[in-house]
Amino acid sequence: MSNFKAIILAAGKGTRMKSEIPKVLHKVCGRSVLSYVLDITKVLRSLTTYVVVGHGSQKVKDAVGNSVTFVQQDQLLGTADAVNRCAPYLKNYQGTILVLCGDTPLLSKDIVAALVKQHHRSKAAATVLTGIIDNPQGYGRIVRDDKGAIKAIREQNDASVDEDKIKEINVGVYGFDSKALFGALKKVKLNPGKKEFYLTDVIELLLAQGKKVGTYTTQDATAAFGVNTREDLAQAQAIIRQRILSKYMLSGVTVIDPLTTFIEAGVVIGQDTTIHPMTVIHTDVRIGKNCSIGPMARLRPGTRVSDGVEIGNFAEVSRTSLGPGVMQKHFSFLGDAVVGQGANIGAGVVTANYDGVNKNKTFIGPQAFIGSDAILVAPNKIGAKAIIGAGSVLPKGKNIPAGTMALGVPARIIKRIGK
Ligand code: UD1
Ligand code: MG
Repeated sequence: MSNFKAIILAAGKGTRMKSEIPKVLHKVCGRSVLSYVLDITKVLRSLTTYVVVGHGSQKVKDAVGNSVTFVQQDQLLGTADAVNRCAPYLKNYQGTILVLCGDTPLLSKDIVAALVKQHHRSKAAATVLTGIIDNPQGYGRIVRDDKGAIKAIREQNDASVDEDKIKEINVGVYGFDSKALFGALKKVKLNPGKKEFYLTDVIELLLAQGKKVGTYTTQDATAAFGVNTREDLAQAQAIIRQRILSKYMLSGVTVIDPLTTFIEAGVVIGQDTTIHPMTVIHTDVRIGKNCSIGPMARLRPGTRVSDGVEIGNFAEVSRTSLGPGVMQKHFSFLGDAVVGQGANIGAGVVTANYDGVNKNKTFIGPQAFIGSDAILVAPNKIGAKAIIGAGSVLPKGKNIPAGTMALGVPARIIKRIGK
C-alpha cells in the first residue's frame, strides 16, 4: 500500500488497568497490545509511523525500538492534542494520514486496508471507520442525517437521549487528508465536560468547511474492541487465542482441545502435528511436521522441534533444538540443549543448565539414550549413540564420547558399546 503515514495514539494512562506498566505494553498471547497495531502499519507499509507517547513513555520506547518515530505528549489533553503533537513532523507532508489507537489489538489489517483504499478512491478529507455493535457503551456514536451521510461523532458524555441509542460507533481509526486534518485541529475547542480536545470534533469542523467526509463500516464488530481493563485484556486474549488456533487447524495441525491449548503469537507448526490438551506453547517456537506435543507440555521461547518429534506429559523445553524423531515422552526439562536425531530422553531427565550465574549448554548426540532420572549438569557433551544410565548424575563439564556407556553418581564411563 505504502501511500500513507500513520499516527498511533498511545500516550494515555490506562488508569483502569491499575498498573505501573503502560496499558499498551500489557501482553496478549505473548505480545504487547501495541505490537498488534504496529503490525498493521508495518504490513500495510506505512511510509512513516509516529507513535504518540506520554505515560510511561520510556518503557514504550524501549519495547517498540527504533522502527518508528516517537512523538511526546507530556500533558494528556485528549486525542486531538495527541494528533496535533505530530504536526511539526508532518508540516511538509501532503497526503493521507492514518490515525489508529494503540489499545485495539483485535483490529485487522484487512479492515484498515479497506478503509485506506476507500479513503483514496473517494478523495474525502476524512474517512471514519465505523462498526455496529449491540452495546455501544463508552464509544463515540456516529450521527447521520436523513440521507444517511455522517454529520458528527458524538461522545457518550455529550450524547442526547436519541444519540445515546445509536449502535453505530466510532472504532477510532481514520484516514485524513493531512492539510485538512491539521487545518481543522487548530479549531478544535476544549470539551468542557472532559477538559480534553477531541479528535472526533474534527469531523463536524470539516463538514462545516464544506469538505467531504466518508465512512467505512466494518461487519466485524470485534475490530473496535479496545483494552481498558484487565477483564478486557483477558477477553482480547481469548479471541486472539482462538484466531491463532483456527489458523493452525486450517493449515493442517490437529488441536485436540482448543479450549485448553495455549499457543502464543509467533509460533510455527508443521502439517500433521498433533497438539494434545493443556499444552502451552510460547512465542518464538518452531515445530516441524508429524510431531506429537503434550498433553501438558510447555514449550518456551527459542525452542526448535524437527519433524517427527514426540514431547509428552510434563515435559518442558526451553531454548533447545530437538533433531528429527527425538523422543521426550515424560516429566523432563531440557534447557539450552541441542539434541541430535533420534535421541531418547528418558522420564525425569533434567538438564541442570543454570549454575546460578550462567546458562550452560548441553549437547546430546544423535541416537543417544539418556536413561530415566539422569541429571546432566551443564555444560556437557554426550556423543552419538552414547548411553547414560538411569539415575546418573553427569557432573559439570564432563563429556561422554560417542558409543560409550556412562552411569553412576557421579557418572563414569564404564564401557564401549556396540562393538
Ligand atoms: C476514543 C474516541 C471514541 C471512540 C473510541 C474508540 C475521542 C474523543 N473519542 O474514545 O469516539 O469510539 O476512542 O476506542 O477520540 N490518547 C493519547 N493522548 C491523550 C488521550 C488519549 O495518546 O491525550 C490515546 C490513548 O492512549 C488511546 C487512544 O488515544 O490509545 C484513545 O483514547 P481513549 O482515552 O481510550 O479514548 P476513548 O474514550 O476510548
Ligand atoms: Mg479507549
